[in-house]
Amino acid sequence: MAGGQMTAFKERVFSGVQPTGNLHLGNYLGAIRRFVQLQEERDCIYCVVDLHAITAQLVQPDLRSQTREVTAAFLAAGIDARRHIVFNQSQVPAHAELSWIFDCVARIGWLNRMTQFKEMAGKDRENASVGLFAYPCLMAADILVYRATHVPVGEDQKQHLELTRDIAQKFNNDFAGPITERGFTEGYFPLTEPLIGGPAARVMSLRDGTKKMSKSDPSDNSRINLTDDADAIAQKIRKAKTDPEALPSEEAGLAARPEADNLVGIYAGLADQTKAEVLAGYGNAQFSTFKSALVDLAVAKLGPIGQEMTRLVADPGHIDAVLADGAERAAAIAEETMRDVKDIVGLIRR
Ligand code: TYM
Repeated sequence: MAGGQMTAFKERVFSGVQPTGNLHLGNYLGAIRRFVQLQEERDCIYCVVDLHAITAQLVQPDLRSQTREVTAAFLAAGIDARRHIVFNQSQVPAHAELSWIFDCVARIGWLNRMTQFKEMAGKDRENASVGLFAYPCLMAADILVYRATHVPVGEDQKQHLELTRDIAQKFNNDFAGPITERGFTEGYFPLTEPLIGGPAARVMSLRDGTKKMSKSDPSDNSRINLTDDADAIAQKIRKAKTDPEALPSEEAGLAARPEADNLVGIYAGLADQTKAEVLAGYGNAQFSTFKSALVDLAVAKLGPIGQEMTRLVADPGHIDAVLADGAERAAAIAEETMRDVKDIVGLIRR
């Protein structure tokens, strides 16, 4: 950059998953599976976001066990908690601290545009918690307290990541003077890059190809849960909605066929292929044939993860020790950022 050296950001991955129950295939293919792949390339921090989980409903009787279950899913899927960091958000107070600063950076107009808030709050907006409204500021704090450069998420989080960039940009602009004096010529916070993509960035309901697969869908048949056994997986795939046509041999043929598109995307995600590659093998196949292959693949890939999760949650002491160790290492990074932020903003600190 002319006139100044660019702030060098250490490449770091951060992502989070809410402990709200029913972890499903969408969470796995859109997020967790990619967390596992990224740990070969970069330093990664993966967080169970328990403070986000209480924004919709404060009292959650199973919060602790669900936090342990998401942790178990991370470990069972293959995240290495020794080489990387796995912890729960509330054990590192800097998330909530930076979130407050970001509440003062973000504008009400920005948050008013968040579609997830509109969906979650529904018609009774006046009665939604302030926490639900400010949710994206806490999410920005999760990411930026580690000055993370890359965030793998499913497509539904795209708007929140754009807001994270807006917050970083505004903070950097507002404090441009002090930042330059401190040597951060391009701004203190990185403009984080979302990692969204692949054939399963948006996994849809098995009952309705136009609706997202979701934890909160009342129909359990709409999703494959990570803890489903082989029989349940097979049944749900066999019952999945389809149309009467055979599969197309080209990807373009999936355009107006949401259910076919979804099942091909799921297969591609599980097999680590593109949709075109899947269709090269199954073009012109009937759904009965394709579904049998998908059942075999899903059981082979998800079965061992579900079994390992069950084994891990049986030992909550071990999981809590993993989380405590991760929190300690996360806090060391986050506290350094908070010291800088306090200096930049002008808060007297210890
Ligand atoms: P959450 O807990 O709803 O979902 C966790 C991850 O799963 C992805 N996902 C999907 N991907 C594909 N298809 C689907 N049907 C599907 N459903 C969910 C989500 O995109 C997400 O990646 N706000 C976040 C949690 C969060 C966070 C963060 C993420 C808090 N702080 C910081 C990244 C960085 C959420 O509610 O995800």
